[in-house]
Formats: sequence, structure tokens, C-alpha cells
Amino acid sequence: MKGKILVTGGTGYIGSHTVVELQNAGFEVVIVDDLSNSTEAVVDQIEQISGIRPKFHHFNMQDLGLLDRLFEQSGGIDAIIHFAAFKAVGESVQKPLIYYRNNLLSLVNLFDCMEKYGVNNLVFSSSCTVYGQPEKLPVTEHTPRMAAESPYGNTKIICEDIIRDYTKANPKIQTIALRYFNPIGAHPSALIGELPNGVPNNLVPFVTQTAAGLREQLSVFGNDYNTPDGSCIRDYINVVDLAKAHVISIERLLNHQNESVFEFFNVGTGNGVSVLSLLNSFEKATGQKVNFKIVGRRAGDIEQIYADTTKANNVLGWKSDTTLEDTLLSAWNWEKRIRKID
Ligand code: UD1
Repeated sequence: MKGKILVTGGTGYIGSHTVVELQNAGFEVVIVDDLSNSTEAVVDQIEQISGIRPKFHHFNMQDLGLLDRLFEQSGGIDAIIHFAAFKAVGESVQKPLIYYRNNLLSLVNLFDCMEKYGVNNLVFSSSCTVYGQPEKLPVTEHTPRMAAESPYGNTKIICEDIIRDYTKANPKIQTIALRYFNPIGAHPSALIGELPNGVPNNLVPFVTQTAAGLREQLSVFGNDYNTPDGSCIRDYINVVDLAKAHVISIERLLNHQNESVFEFFNVGTGNGVSVLSLLNSFEKATGQKVNFKIVGRRAGDIEQIYADTTKANNVLGWKSDTTLEDTLLSAWNWEKRIRKID
């Protein structure tokens, strides 16, 4: 056993894939999750993949008393990966206080407990949303952050600022923030994957649900952007590749290889892919036609963003190596399994 890792939000989409990769790498995992956007069945699925059942605690991290008790009972936590946060952009515009309270307080409570129990290593789940619509592409870690488009995006910016200030005052605490681009796909076993609540906001779950017949038609939000085919461009990163970036970050912290108390990395593929070309790749990979129509732009969407991954490649020694087609096929296999489609 290489160490004990607390994974907050560990039954969620990216969290569950990361738990499996941590277990594969020999770490013991403890999960805390409030199940607001996942189910306890994910713990069974993780066990089915890895053969190891992670310890699971069901509560929301806004409750400092419960979090403190978890640290006390678990004993000897070596590092934490903090995923637990609300992430629905539209909802955050409607209910900003829920987002600020949950996303900020969870991090503050976590730091309180880390300090009290002497846990010094943290990997934080950040987002390329902190860059807004950058002037120059691809975005490096030197690209300036921009004012957020939504309260959700703002919580990521503020959390990064809390980390910066806190690690400056408490240099014993070492943190790596990973700025994810657009995570998609599912575990190759199809036992874990993305399970959106209600109508999906994100592109790939909407695509797979349309192919599965749950949705009649995908709306493509805009074909009049200044891009080669007029649709928006994103950097779609395979969720298992992304999970592996977390394991490498944990190892970097535990081996004291980090160069400063607060490091951050872009985690993407480096390739910009348009909505229409993603649909094309999906059809090629799966043989499934997706019924779509072009509609107007979605408020708040940026035209294009993709990562310069040089820093993650060279400093972390991490690279995404799954093709877009394989990733889309994994998303489809997951959708088929949960909808019982042959
Ligand atoms: C969104 C959030 C981002 C968040 C991320 C979490 C916005 C503006 N941004 O990113 O802050 O970190 O989710 O996963 O909401 N699209 C369609 N039809 C659909 C759905 C999406 O055409 O039904 C298009 C969008 O216009 C966009 C692309 O697909 O161009 C990707 O959209 P989405 O999956 O929602 O991700 P982001 O908007 O990039």
C-alpha cells in the first residue's frame, strides 16, 4: 500500500474513475460524497472493477463536525483529492448562494481539517473555465485568468485564490490544481461513467442519450462562430486519462517533487475539436447516426478553447493517449449498458 488518499466527491463522474486508478496504482482510498449527483451503487461498481471496496462516507462537506470526525476516525490520511463541488453552470446562475456556500465552504473546511490533522497534500479539481475566452490559443498556464461567466466558474477562480493565499500562509500544505478541459467518455469496462441528473447540459451525454433514443434530437448551439465549420471548439479529454493525471499529481506531492507550494496544470489533449466534427467522429466510432439540428447560440458559450499541454507533458510526465473515437465509443458503451441496449 502506497498511502491513504481521501477522495472527496469520489462517487461522481471524474472522482469514481480516479478512485479506480488510485487503487490500480496501489493506494488505499476513502471516499466522502453527499450523493447529490451520484449514487452509492458507484461504490459497488468501483469494487467490481478493482476488486477492492473503498471506504465510503455519506455527507456534505459543509458540515465541519462530520468532516472533522472523518479525519479523526480515518487516521493517517496522506493526501486528498478534492472533487466535491456543484458544477451545473445554468443552475449556478439561478442559485448563486448555493454554489458559493457549497464550493467555497467545502474547501475552507477541508483546509481546517488538513491543518488540524497534519495532512499536507492536496490535488484540487479546477477547470479551464478560469481562462474564459482567451485571446490567444492554445492556452498555457501563463494565459491570464478572466472574470467568470457564471457563479460556478467564479467558485473555481475563488477556490484557486483561497489555495494560493492559504498555501502562502501555510507552506507546509502543498497543492496541485488541475485545470480540466472537457472530460468525456467512460471506463472501458462500462461499469462507471457519467450519469447526469435529468436532461444533460453537456454535449457528449446528450449525444449518447439521443443515440439511445432517450432524446429526440440534439441541438447544436450555433454554426456561425468564427471557426472552420462554424460550431464551437473544445478540447475533449478522456476521463481515464484525466484520472491518471490525478494519480501522477498525488505521487508528485508524496515524493516532494513539486517545485512550489501551489502548482497548476492544464489537463487536455491539445486538440481543438468542433461540435460538428465530434458528431462525425461519434458516428464513425459507433456506427450510430445522431439526429441533430442547428439552433441559435447558447448564452455564455465561448467560441473556442483548447489546451497547450506542454507543462503537464514535461513536468508531470503525463499525456493523454486515448483517441477521440475510442473515447466516444467508451461513452456509447456506457450508455448502452445503463440503458440495457445490445
Ligand atoms: C461547460 C461549462 C464549463 C464546465 C463544463 C463542465 C458552460 C458555458 N461551460 O463547458 O464551465 O466546466 O461544462 O463539464 O456551460 N453543445 C451543443 N449542444 C448541447 C450541449 C452542448 O451544441 O446540447 C455544445 C456547446 O455549445 C459547446 C460544446 O457543445 O460548444 C461543449 O458543451 P458542454 O459539454 O456543455 O461543455 P462546455 O460548455 O465547454
